[in-house]
Amino acid sequence: MTKERIRKVYGRRQGRPLRGDRQEALDVIYPKLELTTAQLKQDSSLNPRTLFDNVGRIEFEIGFGNGEFLRNNMLNHPDTGFIGAEPFVNGVSSFLKSIKDDGHDNIRVFMDDAIIIAKSLQDNSVDGMYVLNPDPWHKSRHHKRRMICQANLDVFSRILKSGATFIMTTDVDELAEWMCTQASHHPDFEWMAESADDWRKMPKNWYQTRYELKGKEAGRTQSYLIFKRK
Ligand SMILES: C[S@@+](CC[C@H](N)C(=O)[O-])C[C@H]1O[C@@H](n2cnc3c(N)ncnc32)[C@H](O)[C@@H]1O
Repeated sequence: MTKERIRKVYGRRQGRPLRGDRQEALDVIYPKLELTTAQLKQDSSLNPRTLFDNVGRIEFEIGFGNGEFLRNNMLNHPDTGFIGAEPFVNGVSSFLKSIKDDGHDNIRVFMDDAIIIAKSLQDNSVDGMYVLNPDPWHKSRHHKRRMICQANLDVFSRILKSGATFIMTTDVDELAEWMCTQASHHPDFEWMAESADDWRKMPKNWYQTRYELKGKEAGRTQSYLIFKRK
């Protein structure tokens, strides 16, 4: 096992035991879409285009949960290759079950820490990235576990092409401020907001996950932080 593989993933990897159809999706579909550790490149030389037969853009979603946003994207953009990373097996199996009747040519799944696959990717190889509702880790002693931090932004900035879109969302106000500050302070990212309340506007052609809808139903405000890789 490499050093990368044993990096700790904070949060759950498995919840309730999987029921038949979800276990079946994992057994049957996952092997066709899986990004395996054998494909990882310690020297950051993995060209994501080589993971697909014929795609134009490459997009990367970190922590896709049940994969509703990812599925909507992969169906609407058949020419884009999507890489999804999610360590929670119940989320991955839910996503796989949802796409069982769809084409699978433009989707690859990494069931582990997104940073492992991000570190493996080539420089300037990703056209768009999403970190939607990452775990908030409310207590200040846990802030170092947050997905958005300078070290991870360094990795994202390396793999993103110049001009690529980087979208982060959350319905936790303090986390929104944290993510916005982290990205604004990073020299390679530029916030695309043009007016003070741009962050409240749902981006065009957006797809709301159950998680996002639940937050809104509970009266929380979703922040949409749209950055560009300079
Ligand atoms: C609150 S959920 C949001 C799920 C989904 N993005 C949505 O908006 O519906 C956060 C997700 O991030 C995942 N996650 C946590 N640490 C991660 C990591 N290191 N790499 C990839 N995903 C991670 C969790 O397993 C969880 O599914």
